[in-house]
Amino acid sequence: MNKNERIGIFDSGIGGVTVLKEILRILPNENYIYYSDSKNNPYGDKSNEEIFKICDEIVKKFIEQKCKAIVIACNTASAKVAKLLRNKYPKEIIIAIEPAYKMVHDFAYEKTTLVMATKGTIESEKFNELYKRYNNKKTFLLPCVGLADIIEEGNNEKIQKYLKENINKYTGIVENVVLGCTHYPLIQEQIKEILGDVNFFNGANSLAKHLKEVLKEKNLINERKSEGKVEFIDSSKSRLKKERFYTICYNSL
Ligand code: DGL
Repeated sequence: MNKNERIGIFDSGIGGVTVLKEILRILPNENYIYYSDSKNNPYGDKSNEEIFKICDEIVKKFIEQKCKAIVIACNTASAKVAKLLRNKYPKEIIIAIEPAYKMVHDFAYEKTTLVMATKGTIESEKFNELYKRYNNKKTFLLPCVGLADIIEEGNNEKIQKYLKENINKYTGIVENVVLGCTHYPLIQEQIKEILGDVNFFNGANSLAKHLKEVLKEKNLINERKSEGKVEFIDSSKSRLKKERFYTICYNSL
């Protein structure tokens, strides 16, 4: 591994761009490959075995490309297979996101909290350990089946309908919202329209800081200036997805 090599980031689609944006802010001089696995989207309803097989292929591609670090920018894949991937590739730096439930414990423990995530994340052993450790006894867990798919599709009407049907009942009740799927920060404003002025928590910032610490510790930070290039690969090879990715990625930086 050397300093000039790229960092590989993946998600089941464009959701992980919300993580990449945070990483670009904290590590602006690195170069990246973003792999959007929209062909296999959603991961949220797949078995651990299926997700492992899919993610193993992606990790192999990043290793072939000599990535100096690999970021799993998907809460579902992180919760289900990060440990297995680290066991299989002990020499690789594999950084995984997790729902920011500890942040609630540290900063807004006394407030009623809604955790939104995929069914896969909510049911995972990894998330359950986190939940038990930091439980504030005022938390609702909401598996948002199908939400990541319609965000991926980019259909605003469907998103609004979904949110009305599924989160209206928490209006006036919850003050904290954990966005436990990397697709959800893309619809933060729509969630706010329904739930009002809640505090949002997502794991992207902690992950980006952790990635920087690990690279620093291993002396792998790229010191060259004006880098920050991102190669986008989408497994479904959709041009529309590519355009949407770069728009979301660079428009709001
Ligand atoms: N973006 C992913 C996550 O953070 C998964 C969405 C999906 O494919 O179900 O959980």
